[in-house]
Amino acid sequence: MENLKEKIIFPLDFPTLKEALNWVERLKPYVGVFKIGLELFVKEGPRAIEEIKKKGANSVFLDLKLFDIPNTVSQAVKSAQSWGVDYLTVHILAGERALKEALKAAEGGLKILGVTLLTSLDKADLLELGFNGELLYKTEDLVYKLTLIAHRVGCDGIVCSAKEVSLIKTSFPHLLIVVPGIRLEEETKDDQVRTATPYEAIKAGADRLVVGRPIRLSPSPEATCERIFEEINRALKEKNV
Ligand code: C5P
Repeated sequence: MENLKEKIIFPLDFPTLKEALNWVERLKPYVGVFKIGLELFVKEGPRAIEEIKKKGANSVFLDLKLFDIPNTVSQAVKSAQSWGVDYLTVHILAGERALKEALKAAEGGLKILGVTLLTSLDKADLLELGFNGELLYKTEDLVYKLTLIAHRVGCDGIVCSAKEVSLIKTSFPHLLIVVPGIRLEEETKDDQVRTATPYEAIKAGADRLVVGRPIRLSPSPEATCERIFEEINRALKEKNV
């Protein structure tokens, strides 16, 4: 169960720390990694990291998706490290030098995860941003290209959608692959476009799953976590892990 817990990342997308802490208390038997995003961080500041750790979270994932010049990224990584963060996201589009500085600042302590492409961007957005040609028509190729940079500089892992995970895991087996947009079969997709079930995502090569609303909106979040464990187990068994 300990190992399975580490595979589930629960986003603490709540407006107050009080609410976030209640969810940590409730889910800590099932979830190993709690994710603090912009919503909570901007509202409550870095004390949220401390409080969530104190509440018993195994690991804290600070999802700030840093995108700035190398020196600024480096200083932000050092601060995150001093607050005891375990995982931190940096946009790969911030460039190779920013990623290298992030890794240098992390000194092998906290794990740096490269964000490939926001799943909210569609083809029209990418065209508007200046992406064209083949990269525009096959977003997997763009995600591959970005992952290649993350791999080359030594990032610990990347974040990508379920659509690309198989290609990425096959090409970069040692990178930690984090996949959001996880849905259980009978659910709606909400605003997620490229979704997969826990079973499908793990089978395709995901190492960690970001699961928010399927747990949060479930009539029984604990039962949903058990179901996710069952799916992860089934996929791992079929893969002979
Ligand atoms: O499972 P659910 O859709 O509720 O998860 C939402 C969470 O997933 C948010 O914290 C959001 O930041 C994160 N997410 C992400 N990358 C994406 C899409 C969503 O990290 N491409």
